[in-house]
Amino acid sequence: MLTGKRVLLIISGGIAAYKSLELIRRLRERGAAVRCVLTRAGAQFVTPLSLAALSGDKVYGELFDLTDEAEMGHIQLSRDADLLVVAPASADLLAKMAQGRADDLASTALLATDKAVLVAPAMNVRMWEHAATQANLAALKARGVLTVGPNEGDMACGEYGFGRMAEPQEILAAIEAALGLPGRLSGLRALVTSGPTHEPIDPVRYIANRSSGKQGHAIAAALARHGAETTLVSGPSQLPDPPGLRTVRVETAQEMLAACRAALPVEVAVCAAAVADWRAAHAAQHKLKKDNGAPAALELAQNPDILSELSQAGGQRPSLVIGFAAETERVVEQGRAKLARKGCDWILANDVAPGTATFGGESNRIHLITADGVDDWPQMTKTEVAERLCRQIAATLGR
Ligand code: CTP
Repeated sequence: MLTGKRVLLIISGGIAAYKSLELIRRLRERGAAVRCVLTRAGAQFVTPLSLAALSGDKVYGELFDLTDEAEMGHIQLSRDADLLVVAPASADLLAKMAQGRADDLASTALLATDKAVLVAPAMNVRMWEHAATQANLAALKARGVLTVGPNEGDMACGEYGFGRMAEPQEILAAIEAALGLPGRLSGLRALVTSGPTHEPIDPVRYIANRSSGKQGHAIAAALARHGAETTLVSGPSQLPDPPGLRTVRVETAQEMLAACRAALPVEVAVCAAAVADWRAAHAAQHKLKKDNGAPAALELAQNPDILSELSQAGGQRPSLVIGFAAETERVVEQGRAKLARKGCDWILANDVAPGTATFGGESNRIHLITADGVDDWPQMTKTEVAERLCRQIAATLGR
């Protein structure tokens, strides 16, 4: 809970500003007092009236608004809060912060504050990737500014990549962490598998699949954000190691199993990896040459089933073992069968048929299958799936 905490929310220009309305609601639900500063560009996207209605407070805009200065100076405004949150943080505001400029109320409050500052960047992917933005961000981080996001995904401008503002629930968890509040899952140990596995055929070739690791990484990051002591066992994935947790990188299913066993005991295990079911029975020591007569057939051996192993780990079995079922037809029916076969507690069944863009894509449609029945979740981003799963885990474990 955030009871008694005061957040100064600075909203700069960007289409993501609409998500800040939701953030204000969530903050107030949790007992925080929210006061908003809206930049001139931010006011192009949300109105002061909406912010005032949701925050239940006056909204501050211009630095030289004499009424504001008479009621409360910018110094006091920035120091009255327990935390300053900039969401969305535009490329322009981040640049101003990095340079220490103070030409409007938002930048002045950010320069005058003696409190922690959390930024949720939101911008076009090229702007985000630009060396100038990255240098500004690095300078801010070096000064202790906290960040949340941005996430990867489709952008309002029609491009794709990093630059989408973090979801309100993620920002909320980052606010709790920034305020040093124990997350809902603090004290809990969690293990997550993610990504594909690569099973060598010879030193240069391998068996693999199309998993990106996005869903598993998002779940590990969300568990860590909510305070769980998290180990992520990741197969080869292009994704960076998420912050705030321990990542163990592996190649093969056998290595993944060994890393999972080494991470026990944990209270919660989530198997999101797309483990290769088969490996080459005899991986060649040297590159297979076709002029030596390539093997007519590849002899395969079955890989260990990590989800089943964790579900049957005897005294070391996590209290909650959660698996995924990637199906292309009869999704719920096959998910139910998988729950029984693997001996896990929950299955998140999802449709990975061609056209659904689940593999490598940014969203997922989940059917949560438990002993109690099936809960159909709407289509949502993989980050939202991760957040919802964390809430479900917290509720089930009575947190
Ligand atoms: N899984 C695992 N180890 C394996 C295979 C699968 O831990 N060797 C886990 C996955 O992480 C996922 C669940 O089992 O949580 C189901 O994976 P899926 O690929 O849907 O099913 P399979 O067990 O491979 O069954 P099938 O290929 O017959 O659908």
